[in-house]
Amino acid sequence: APARIAVTGLAVMGSNLARNLARHGYRVAVHNRSHARTEALIADHGHEGDFVPARTLEELVASLQTPRQIIIMVKAGAPTDAVIDELVPLLEPGDMVIDGGNAHYADTRRREAALKEAGLHFVGAGISGGEEGALNGPSIMPGGSKESYRHLGPVLEDIAAKVDDVACCVHVGPDGAGHFVKMVHNGIEYADMQLIAEAYDLLHRVGGLAPAEVAEVFRGWNTGDLESYLVEITAEVLGHVDAATGAALVDVIADEAEQKGTGRWTVQEALELGVPVTGIAEAVFARSLSGRAGQRQAVRAAFGSADVVGGATDSLVEDVRQALYASKVVAYAQGFDQMRAASAEYGWDLDLGAMATIWRGGCIIRARFLDRIREAYDKDPELASLLVDDYFRDAVRSAEEAWRRVAVKAVTAGVPAPGFVSALAYYDGLRSERLPASLIQGLRDFFGAHTYRRTDREGSFHTLWSGDRSQVDA
Ligand code: 6PG
Repeated sequence: APARIAVTGLAVMGSNLARNLARHGYRVAVHNRSHARTEALIADHGHEGDFVPARTLEELVASLQTPRQIIIMVKAGAPTDAVIDELVPLLEPGDMVIDGGNAHYADTRRREAALKEAGLHFVGAGISGGEEGALNGPSIMPGGSKESYRHLGPVLEDIAAKVDDVACCVHVGPDGAGHFVKMVHNGIEYADMQLIAEAYDLLHRVGGLAPAEVAEVFRGWNTGDLESYLVEITAEVLGHVDAATGAALVDVIADEAEQKGTGRWTVQEALELGVPVTGIAEAVFARSLSGRAGQRQAVRAAFGSADVVGGATDSLVEDVRQALYASKVVAYAQGFDQMRAASAEYGWDLDLGAMATIWRGGCIIRARFLDRIREAYDKDPELASLLVDDYFRDAVRSAEEAWRRVAVKAVTAGVPAPGFVSALAYYDGLRSERLPASLIQGLRDFFGAHTYRRTDREGSFHTLWSGDRSQVDA
């Protein structure tokens, strides 16, 4: 019998996705550029389901029922284009090519348009959840045509994570929408991890708690509003002891954070769209700062490092918990704003509540409070900001004092907390009656005659700064 679906690219994500499909009863054709990997998959996991190994893409295509569905799981960028170029001449109108990698959404838009010309469907599908998710149920964010989703949706929903029996997979929108949403997911992942890291650093350096003690704190937090996969694994990592030295592993790991680029893309796109995603930007820059070893060394030599303060109290722990929660609400509010802006820009008609729904399980940022985000957008799809939803407004209001105390502590102790502090500045910025942007407009008008608007009447105005300083209509 022909295979139902195919996977090409059998590194760990591809293999695990193929196994997930096979375990759900689908006959899966599998292919890898070097056949040894295909053989290894069959040898190690062939018993888990119905695999059809293919030596070449021709063989892979020939083994499939029509319309064909081929999932590409190779590195983003040129390797993905190479596979697409090889695949397209082998396909027939109506066939579907699915890119399950972390592609840039602009590449996805380009590929979708090109394949459409050839009568093919191109589906850029964000897949989150790492190796474990790919195998046992990821969160899937497929873009592309509605027609492609009619064929593909049932299969993807079948293998996706489930929360309350609801699949963590939905048709996100046309062309690059799925990969855009996956990119923002990763940006939020960066922000969330940065805030968690700052919380740890404050408890460690201001509170004087050892990593194992902070692990216990996180374990406790994971039973409340902060319950999430990232908080859960933070306790695991902080509690882990290095076998070689007997020290906490976190003290042995080099403190230079790496990145593959999706967080940076999120910020680049936010700059283009004019959406302030300060939490994600601070997270990307904090990683960059950590990696500048030479510069860190030089500045530390010149100024010295802040001392550990010590003496953590229950109230510090509780303050940090609240600051973390409020800052996290801000980071998500910013990410959802960015999705809304892109949706308007590209005509995607994104359902923000549905995005929160499919992030409840399977993905890296899965968290209890995504239910609250879903409820907020279900109640009001046009919500001006997540911050003004009743639930989040109350949460942020009740956390506000603790949040300020934590920011003050961090600044006073000399422990960097750019995520906490900038989230607070964002909140204070949006709630200010007047912003000093008026002064910025005045300065722009002074040196460049860039004009300004007035609060009391329509129009554009310019002050004759170098003349008699009277005002003229611009
Ligand atoms: C996911 C992850 C996944 C990957 C990140 C890591 O959703 O499963 O986000 O896509 O782990 O891309 O990104 P960095 O290497 O940039 O931290």
